[in-house]
Amino acid sequence: MTKSIAVLAGDGIGPEIVEQAVRVLSSLGLNIEMKEALVGGAAFDRFEHPLPKSTLDLAKNSQAVLFGAVGDWKYDHLPRELRPEQSILGLRRSLGLFANLRPAFLYDDLSNSSTLKPEVVSGLDLLIVRELTGDVYFGTPRGVRNANDGNFIGEREGFDTMRYAESEVRRIAKVAFESAMKRSKRLCSVDKANVLETSQFWRDIMTDTAKEYPNVELTHMYIDNAAMQLVKNPCQFDVIVTGNLFGDILSDEAAMLTGSIGMLPSASLNSNNQGLYEPSHGSAPDIAGKGIANPLATILSASMLLRYSLDLSDYANLIDKAVHNVLANGFRTVDIYENGTNKVGTSEMGDAVINELRMA
Ligand code: IPM
Ligand code: MG
Repeated sequence: MTKSIAVLAGDGIGPEIVEQAVRVLSSLGLNIEMKEALVGGAAFDRFEHPLPKSTLDLAKNSQAVLFGAVGDWKYDHLPRELRPEQSILGLRRSLGLFANLRPAFLYDDLSNSSTLKPEVVSGLDLLIVRELTGDVYFGTPRGVRNANDGNFIGEREGFDTMRYAESEVRRIAKVAFESAMKRSKRLCSVDKANVLETSQFWRDIMTDTAKEYPNVELTHMYIDNAAMQLVKNPCQFDVIVTGNLFGDILSDEAAMLTGSIGMLPSASLNSNNQGLYEPSHGSAPDIAGKGIANPLATILSASMLLRYSLDLSDYANLIDKAVHNVLANGFRTVDIYENGTNKVGTSEMGDAVINELRMA
């Protein structure tokens, strides 16, 4: 069967970084069909919608989506449902991509890039498993209404709903425990069970699931403490599992521990291992078109794509190794540059990875 990927580059630096990931994939000589489509602001400009049906259909009919980034300040005035961010939320919902894997890994060669002291971050290697299709992100009812109870009757109020169904918690728990089994068998579930009913429910189900994984050590932590522990002693964590909103926040924090968010890939999977793969960073419109963006997060996302959706782990390992070597050889984009290293642009970084792959 031919392997098929939808390539959705999006806005800002999206097209530049995705181009490098596509070149890297092409250089492997695999029989993968790659089809491009517009998404985000770029799609809005052409079709007046950030996720046109043609793009969604392409994504649905592909085994995986390689995604760049979406968003630009120039769309901030649009109604929420037409803003670029809605495309990524729509893809997550339509494809049922409930499991978001966000690794944060500090390369030895980059330990000076972190804003934290090298001795605090050295050896950092954690995985955040974020639930991605539930919680207050998608919970209904939501909106703005006239308050009809409580202390503010008669005033307008904004409201959203935090809710998790049991099956939603159970399936993300399973992904998290399975991930922990493949790593150091330590799992920390993050919630706000001291205040929120949803969180207590979440915690109970995590505890219940732990019975099926006697080899995994499960701990629980409140979100506020977890945010603090991540900067205090990040290496205490191996796998973290958490809900959509807390995971959004913690994953940016964890990404920054590594010095540059430009290094971190992510995978969002459904129950068929169909996935969307994107760098953890955004569209960075301020540096778009300058050829200086770091393509490594996207290249590493392509590696995750091969590993999780196309069952090509050997090739994923080759890409990971190539990125490692490129850094060891001193190649740096501006976001990770330090004195004495070799500053390169986006496409030269792509070249460097491809050269390493040729030599492998
Ligand atoms: C992320 C992003 C998205 C989110 C936005 C763009 C909707 O911040 O992938 O973390 O909040 O999930
Ligand atoms: Mg986020």
